[in-house]
Amino acid sequence: MIAYRAALLRFDDAGRPLYDEDGLLVVDADAQGRQRVLDAGDFRAVSARHPEAPVTHLPGRILAPGFIDMHIHFPQTDIIGAPAEGLLPWLENYTFPAESRFADPAHSAEVAEFFLDELMRNGVTTALTFATSHPASVDAFFEASQRRQLRMIGGKVLQDRHSPDGVRDQTEQSLIDTEALIRRWHKVDRLGYAITPRFAPSCTDAQLAGAGELATTYGDTWIHSHVAENLDEVKWVRELFPKARSYLDVYVGFRLMRERAVYAHCIHFDDADRALMRETGAAAAVSPTSNLFLGSGFFDFEGAQRIGYHHGLASDVGGGTSFSPFHTMLSAYYVGREGQTKPGLSLAPSQLWWRHTGGAAEALGLAGVVGNLQPGCEADFLVLNPAATPLLARKTARAENVEELLFSMIVLGDDRLVERTVVSQAGAA
Ligand code: GUN
Ligand code: ZN
Repeated sequence: MIAYRAALLRFDDAGRPLYDEDGLLVVDADAQGRQRVLDAGDFRAVSARHPEAPVTHLPGRILAPGFIDMHIHFPQTDIIGAPAEGLLPWLENYTFPAESRFADPAHSAEVAEFFLDELMRNGVTTALTFATSHPASVDAFFEASQRRQLRMIGGKVLQDRHSPDGVRDQTEQSLIDTEALIRRWHKVDRLGYAITPRFAPSCTDAQLAGAGELATTYGDTWIHSHVAENLDEVKWVRELFPKARSYLDVYVGFRLMRERAVYAHCIHFDDADRALMRETGAAAAVSPTSNLFLGSGFFDFEGAQRIGYHHGLASDVGGGTSFSPFHTMLSAYYVGREGQTKPGLSLAPSQLWWRHTGGAAEALGLAGVVGNLQPGCEADFLVLNPAATPLLARKTARAENVEELLFSMIVLGDDRLVERTVVSQAGAA
């Protein structure tokens, strides 16, 4: 058992922030030896319940849940900041050539290590990531994640059409490979498999049907894809699937909408699409830095809240421009203000933070597992230094309540705020 004394940020079940200026986080191994939060809250109350716990005192620091990135591409680490007219030329000119290199296991392994270093430096302890169409890229990602004992989710990309040589896969083999990878990696330690059709235009009907069948057979895997990101893409889907009511409806037809189905972007939606998200329990991975960078459009936060479907925040690196959750939250704030049909929705700082931690966990079907520091959660947490830069120190010292404090860090923060990223270990004493 070990206890950490510092300011402490948690969330209640409704996503409201709980903040103890002088808090205590008590971590202990469960019956399987996995480190979890045993107790958390005000220092005096919690320390009285655990007088035997050795305390590490971290004055001036804030303990906070590790961030969750709901949608990212580890093989796109090296193409951040590649300029393009929009999504489709960006894929053609930068993304597919970069991803074709992941047929090489050594390249996959090198990028996977750098990617995980970068996530952890930025305070991200769980991510749902695309690999590439090459099974070697999936093995490299999971091997590196397993060594670090991280809770990570990923999968082999399915793309058997409208894709160049080097990344295009073969329908039948792609499904055989997917099933073998599910059996090799899903639920091994803290790893989870995501069945990953790239997006409807890159998959034949047979491949989408096979993905849907696997998603039904292996019902606790994730499904991970893109939808309704860009207007040219939406038009193309309408031509390719003339019978579908909408882009999202294509996925319904192939049994790819259910809990743990995560769709990046969800921008060009109508209320019928939003209702489908709610009814099926699927989740949107909102990727504001990517949407601003590629000129894709603005996610409708007001529509998501009005209809009430799962949504959380994501970087979408390399379409996205930053690994930093602080940059993602600030961009989400801009999108929330400027991107609405009805002006004036301001997302509260604690809401933004929740959508990148506990709310993202809920959307992934991992509530109570990660994304929070309530008792029972796996002990993935951050030590934040709110005085990491002169301006942060000045501004956070003037915060009069938790919303002001969180907003100061969202607006001014980056990887310098993250002093330490602590990952729950197994086999701990
Ligand atoms: N749609 C299909 N593939 C991709 C991708 O790699 N990134 C983004 N942002 N959208 C996509
Ligand atoms: Zn993406």
